[in-house]
Amino acid sequence: MTMGEKANFHGRKILLGVTGGISVYKSAELVREFIRRGAEVSVVMTENATRFITPLTMESLSRNPVGLDMFSLTDERTMGHIDRAKWADLFIVAPATANYLAKAACGIADDLLTTISLVARCPVAVAPAMNTNMWSHPTVQDNIRTLEERGVKIIPPGEGELACGDKGKGRLADLDIIIKAAQELLYGACDMSGLSVLVTAGPTRESMDPVRFISNPSSGKMGYAIAEAARGRGAVVTLISGPTSLKDPDGIETIRVVTAEEMLAAARDHIEANQWLIMTAAVADYRPVKRSTRKTKKDGKKKITLEMESNPDILMELATAKGDRLYVGFAAESESLEDNARKKLLSKGLDLIVANDITERDSGFEKDENRATLLGREGYVERFPLMSKLELAHRILDHSSVLWRAAAKNG
Ligand code: PMT
Repeated sequence: MTMGEKANFHGRKILLGVTGGISVYKSAELVREFIRRGAEVSVVMTENATRFITPLTMESLSRNPVGLDMFSLTDERTMGHIDRAKWADLFIVAPATANYLAKAACGIADDLLTTISLVARCPVAVAPAMNTNMWSHPTVQDNIRTLEERGVKIIPPGEGELACGDKGKGRLADLDIIIKAAQELLYGACDMSGLSVLVTAGPTRESMDPVRFISNPSSGKMGYAIAEAARGRGAVVTLISGPTSLKDPDGIETIRVVTAEEMLAAARDHIEANQWLIMTAAVADYRPVKRSTRKTKKDGKKKITLEMESNPDILMELATAKGDRLYVGFAAESESLEDNARKKLLSKGLDLIVANDITERDSGFEKDENRATLLGREGYVERFPLMSKLELAHRILDHSSVLWRAAAKNG
């Protein structure tokens, strides 16, 4: 499987610029691929591009209004040119004609696409496509060099038979190559490629009878974000999920469990095959001693007493399997956030712990955003502001990767 085939762009925003050339039909395919891999895509077309393919096609595939005209009030109202450029995590122009490259190199902004090219501050890539003589022309090559020197990623054209009948270099790079370049720009050089990561997410449920259980408000969002971020960076991910309403993420083996004991059993089954363990799950510490197979009758009782016993601590149980694996835990705290999290970091033998203050109203359980503090064994502390769970997931993975590489170097 190539890196491009594994690439995942879940939650990432890609702005695709399309200029006029015969390979525009491949841009339509590119939009589909980006969408299939979870990206949100917005397309901007030059007037010449619309001669080869209709904006309607691009709009249907991208499920977003297509940007065409600088001076269209409708376009500017849906997403103005400045907003469109700021919105994007990645800006790719494919195909990029010789004309576009020349304008981009000189800073000419005479239409929507070239104007956006000057506004965009996210990573930018161009995939040129043109006749082979045009491609090798010194002017085009100078423009390519200029753009490259300014940090634009050039996705070189492929070689072969061109639409005009000539043979040589000039046809749009294969989609797989473009996707791989997009992945590298978004995530670095797929820094988790070759790694296997086990992630737990969501709550556990501990039943007292067929209709009643003890649980907590974990939605699974944080754990799923970590699993998806790791997959996007090239890792092979296994997700053990408690009951959540989230759907199994594409390309991730997802094991559904209900109780802490089931989560432990699944984690035991999978720990050997994984190099990292990230325990995001909010595991119930206690479970009812008795689990009735029949619904408990009310029978007029005003009070009932529920006897509880402790569940196994999954991280503690997996301590013997740690070896040189990287273990990351989470801590849900309502007081003394960093002190309590540090105690858990040390007592559970973790490399890192992510501490959440669950008393905050805008983060933690169920929310789309989280605010967390990352604590490491050697006193490392990093306090993250409120951010999306996906962004936080990437920050956690960034630091985990640093630790992992340092351990590999020293060991
Ligand atoms: O799912 P979301 O709605 O997105 O919410 C995310 C979250 C708030 C659940 C998440 O960010 C979080 O904080 N998860 C940890 C919750 C928790 O159980 O914390 P804890 O402090 O009780 O446990 C500390 C660590 O031990 C955790 O890594 C936990 O998975 C692990 N643990 C806990 C109990 C147990 N029996 N076995 C364990 O392995």
